[in-house]
Amino acid sequence: MSDFRERAEALDSADGLAALRELFLLDDTVYLDGNSLGALPAHVPARMQDVLTREWGSLRIRSWDESGWWTAPERIGDRIAPLVGAAEGQIVVGDSTSVNVFKAVVAATRLAGEGRDEILVDATTFPTDGYIASSAARMTGHRVVPVAPSDVPDALGPRTAAVLLNHVDYRTGRLHDLPGLTAAVHDAGALAVWDLCHSAGALPVGLDAHGVDLAVGCTYKYLNGGPGSPAYLYVAERHQAAFDSPLPGWTSHADPFGMTPGYVPADGSVRGRVGTPDILSMLALEASLDVWDGVPVEAVRAKSLALTDFFLECVAAYVPEGRVTPVTPVPHGERGSQVSLRCEVPGETEAVMRALVERGVVGDLRRPDILRFGFTPLYVGFADAERAARILAEVLGV
Ligand SMILES: Cc1ncc(COP(=O)(O)O)c(C=O)c1O
Repeated sequence: MSDFRERAEALDSADGLAALRELFLLDDTVYLDGNSLGALPAHVPARMQDVLTREWGSLRIRSWDESGWWTAPERIGDRIAPLVGAAEGQIVVGDSTSVNVFKAVVAATRLAGEGRDEILVDATTFPTDGYIASSAARMTGHRVVPVAPSDVPDALGPRTAAVLLNHVDYRTGRLHDLPGLTAAVHDAGALAVWDLCHSAGALPVGLDAHGVDLAVGCTYKYLNGGPGSPAYLYVAERHQAAFDSPLPGWTSHADPFGMTPGYVPADGSVRGRVGTPDILSMLALEASLDVWDGVPVEAVRAKSLALTDFFLECVAAYVPEGRVTPVTPVPHGERGSQVSLRCEVPGETEAVMRALVERGVVGDLRRPDILRFGFTPLYVGFADAERAARILAEVLGV
């Protein structure tokens, strides 16, 4: 065991991102749930105090202009853009991921044009995407075809309008082949819509480089935006002029204060807006993005893989065979930034996670039998990974 502790110490001292941990408000808990809710960057409370007392309290309505509230959705979208490999002007922040899935899927079917009546949906998707896609399909006269991501190339055809996929599987942590699948979707003449909730902020996405059509994602996981922080919508520049939002609210109007009865869409990413932005959450997100200044996503990815490799090694060494089985793929090209372990004793999962949390290791679970451990390279270190595996072994009675 001490061998792993020594290695963890050496890895932490060689870690070029280790100093970033100081930017977050953390205690001695091993926090491995940043894939659900990221930690709080330490400077955000003071920024929010200023937003509340000065921008809202003193300036009140003037802040829509003077404090830049009105343009926050596009401005913050441009802050997220480099983290997902997008040039400026293509991302707008607002609403929840679920709502943005609706906008993206309906808009994709409209962009695909007549004669294509199928929407392929990741059969392993986070449920909300499936629910929303099914409703969108009913409203637009399409049919949803559930398909495992690896089977998408075989399921594509002249009837496919759009394909909705998760970049990283929320349950298993499997990373799907965004470049390859997007290319296959395009070869079939359809549009690719990606859900980036579990990849943005954890690994390079390359939206522009891989020609993704539309994408959505949340900001409260690896982007540390805070509970319920607004999501984002990416519409590739080449689609913006024809992007026909199914929720054409007044803030996406070309002249929102003209208050005209007829809808005229604004140009650019603004077209993805709907109603009044959720300013408090949005500005907490904006402040929290400061921790990314000068941090290359590639370095984050390298650390994430090293952390998850190390955790898997510690688990294999500390936990006897047969108690838990990793379901997260071992090949780096197929792994997101979490490790999911299946509990092999039926009914044990909830008790195991409860005991871990009581001992200061916070992960979460997905029923019936998956223990999830998310690794956020900005604030998780190798000693955390070692400690989590060691305490897991203790909890399992080793
Ligand atoms: C992959 C994925 N998609 C969508 C969602 C739902 O996002 P929201 O609650 O912001 O609509 C989640 C939430 O965890 C998610 O993990």
